[in-house]
Amino acid sequence: MPREIERLLDLQPGQTYADCTAGRGGHASIIGSRVQPGGTVILNDADEGNLAAASEHVRVSCPGVRVHAVHGNFAILPRTMEGSGLAADGMLADFGFSSTQIEDASRGFSFMRDGPLDMRFDTSRGIPASELVNTAPERELARWLREYGEEPAAGRIAQAIVQARRASPIQTTAQLAEVVRATVGRRPGSTVDPATKSFQALRIVVNDEIGSVEALLFQVARAARALSGKPAGGGAGGASGVGSGGLWLAKGARIAVLTFHSLEDRPVKTLFADICQQGLATDLARGGITASEEEIRANPRARSARLRAIRLNA
Ligand SMILES: C[S@@+](CC[C@H](N)C(=O)[O-])C[C@H]1O[C@@H](n2cnc3c(N)ncnc32)[C@H](O)[C@@H]1O
Repeated sequence: MPREIERLLDLQPGQTYADCTAGRGGHASIIGSRVQPGGTVILNDADEGNLAAASEHVRVSCPGVRVHAVHGNFAILPRTMEGSGLAADGMLADFGFSSTQIEDASRGFSFMRDGPLDMRFDTSRGIPASELVNTAPERELARWLREYGEEPAAGRIAQAIVQARRASPIQTTAQLAEVVRATVGRRPGSTVDPATKSFQALRIVVNDEIGSVEALLFQVARAARALSGKPAGGGAGGASGVGSGGLWLAKGARIAVLTFHSLEDRPVKTLFADICQQGLATDLARGGITASEEEIRANPRARSARLRAIRLNA
């Protein structure tokens, strides 16, 4: 939904745009073109390869902007920006994986392509999926599959994984997909691969996706409160002495968030509603915006996308 995002962020020449999930720079180059000349684009991604591609893309397509590339989890971006004296007028987070990650078998995200069972967005840190699958207790595996995959057969799949790894460690995407398929089989009438939910669950755990979303939202709320001069516990006045200086979001900053499943969307919806109710922000897309039929035809993944946006009041 790049046009919707562009409209909601309403960035102007000279302003600063922060893309928490730059990917290959698709959104960043469109929205970044709105801040030139004289603007700044901050690109963040946990995936070093994607970040390098995004930086190159934005530098070439938006020659009139300054580009800052920040590698790492977006949960840390706010503090990094504050340390560098950068404050965004508009921010976008477009959660999940990019098409290049799922298409690259060596990254281990896909049950359609055999490769090492890795699934890390940031391959310079963290624990690959194979290590979790081969060491986690059965009960923990079942909980992940249930909570993050919403997999009805979570218990049976966890048991099958533990049995399979006793025979030999599960090292590849094909091995794991086979264990899941052999356990649950294809659901009658369904065209969806039986391994879909299990792969989603593991990817979420490997990358602490929900924890990262919550940490980013916490930073949005912190900035919103600090800009308003309200202390954390609510009430009026700026007793904590926080002002607008040194924060990663500028006064009136617009924040757009694109989610792809309810586990991601729920905390966004809750936090946005909360800070709007406290008078710290205004909802720019009540109920969220979903993709048009035309966009879904061009990109089937857009079917489950939901775009939410707010503007900080201070
Ligand atoms: C859907 S893609 C973004 C696509 C991008 N908006 C574009 O137009 O090309 C999601 C990106 O977010 C990154 N990502 C996911 N979780 C992250 C996190 N916690 N911190 C930083 N980057 C993350 C992934 O590596 C991936 O490149």
